[in-house]
Amino acid sequence: MSDQQEPALRLKGIVKTFPGVRALDGVDFEVMPGEVHALLGENGAGKSTLMKVLAGMHQPDEGQIIIAGKPVRMTTPIEAKAQGVVLIHQELSLVPEMSAAENIYLGELPLKRFGRVDWTTLFERSNAILKRLNCNFRGEVTVANLSIANQQMVEIARALTVDARVVVFDEPTASLTDAEKVVLFEIINDLKARGVGIVYISHRMDEIFTLSDRITVLRDGAYRGTLTTADTDEDEVTRLMIGRSLDLSRDTAEHSLGEVVLEVRDLSCAPLFKKISFSVRAGEVVGFYGLVGAGRTEIAETLFGLRSPDSGEILVDGSPVQINAPADAIKLGISLVPENRKEQGLVLSMNCRDNMTLPQVQNLTTGPFVSSGAEIAIFDKYRDKLEIKTPSWRQTTRVLSGGNQQKIVIGKWLSMHPRVLIVDEPTRGIDVGSKSEIHMLLRALAAQGYAVIVISSEMPEVLRVSDRIVAMYSGQIMREFTAEQVTEDSLVQAISGIRTSEVA
Ligand SMILES: Nc1ncnc2c1ncn2[C@@H]1O[C@H](COP(=O)(O)OP(=O)(O)OP(=O)(O)O)[C@@H](O)[C@H]1O
Ligand SMILES: [Mg+2]
Repeated sequence: MSDQQEPALRLKGIVKTFPGVRALDGVDFEVMPGEVHALLGENGAGKSTLMKVLAGMHQPDEGQIIIAGKPVRMTTPIEAKAQGVVLIHQELSLVPEMSAAENIYLGELPLKRFGRVDWTTLFERSNAILKRLNCNFRGEVTVANLSIANQQMVEIARALTVDARVVVFDEPTASLTDAEKVVLFEIINDLKARGVGIVYISHRMDEIFTLSDRITVLRDGAYRGTLTTADTDEDEVTRLMIGRSLDLSRDTAEHSLGEVVLEVRDLSCAPLFKKISFSVRAGEVVGFYGLVGAGRTEIAETLFGLRSPDSGEILVDGSPVQINAPADAIKLGISLVPENRKEQGLVLSMNCRDNMTLPQVQNLTTGPFVSSGAEIAIFDKYRDKLEIKTPSWRQTTRVLSGGNQQKIVIGKWLSMHPRVLIVDEPTRGIDVGSKSEIHMLLRALAAQGYAVIVISSEMPEVLRVSDRIVAMYSGQIMREFTAEQVTEDSLVQAISGIRTSEVA
């Protein structure tokens, strides 16, 4: 990266408004060839919108896009791609009924004479790309049958079909395993070595600091500045992002523990998890820590009636219970905030209020009518509590920023006043400021007497919120720690399948 070089991309004074929202307020941004430029900002700061302007999905109200020194207009994604600009979306945008290969070459399928699709070439080319990405599936498979992580790989594969000048990754690691992340980072470094400009959007500071050369920060749609990664630190970036430093210490306020609310004895569901035993008391936060695939989500799903165990017992308030469906769980006061908000948590076409009050429409009904006032009151309460950014409860959740969608899901379950609240990866895709608020919220809920289970793949998160930590590896509980005794090393060992006896 030399100073004389022309930027691969330059955005100047970009303004974009939506009804009620000034999403971008004169934003400048540039990427040099061979540079990884991270774009940071709170949920709703305008990161995805800026990139959608670049990729021809939104037309800016004002401002200029300059590619390799020439001003261009991007009217469609296909045109952007022709200019060498590829966007890998935050929210997956695949056609589920089509094959992976068709999705990879969507809009540009290789054709034979007479306009017929050249299937042989299509599959050959896509399979070559999927192989390069180390994918364990083929181009022929229907996208709907792929896991979310693999669907993300299809999105990434799409970017590799063109001779790209600029590739934008919008929160690409949100649902990837560590192994898949390694592959992704290799690909990014490979693109970088070939002189491609990379825009990398993520809320994970560790990734930003590992990968990026420079960092640009947006706040409330405005440009806040650009920093050289090597010369800055997390604290400076955070202050630029949210206007203050974060207190990342543990909340040490003592709160008394009540009775055991939920107990699990020898719960097994082959081959996902076996002989799981633990308990959670009122007033306690129990963190489940492990790698993606360790069986934590499956245990949560079993407790919420989405899976049937092969054997074992679940007890609520000391009495054995049968949980065959989510309705049973909800009746017993067990709520689950799922891992994947788009698939399980939200109806994207519905407005914010309706999404939040969906599970309790029954309770709010007076006669044949749903009391709209009561619903709005619930929405307002949790919008304030969780600082959800939306111009109105009428807004369709589809257009909310990713993190704000997650907050709607959390609000939805909190508004049910559960006794046991299970949250699966509660801050995935959530900015550092809101993340810290959600951590405090989880602690506060425990203090109010809720029994809280937090499933997380982020060590700082479990360390910060948990009174006890259950470390899982490959479907088994390896060890349990109290907040006082846990150390990072012992936790890493436990989730890697190393038993204490083997270490000693
Ligand atoms: N199509 C749209 N219609 C109306 N408002 C929109 C639309 N797209 C985005 N917005 C609004 O513009 C603002 C910026 O959203 P954007 O998705 O760019 O945020 P973001 O920085 O990507 O956040 P996150 O980190 O949560 O993904 C938000 O207030 C959002 O609700
Ligand atoms: Mg976004």
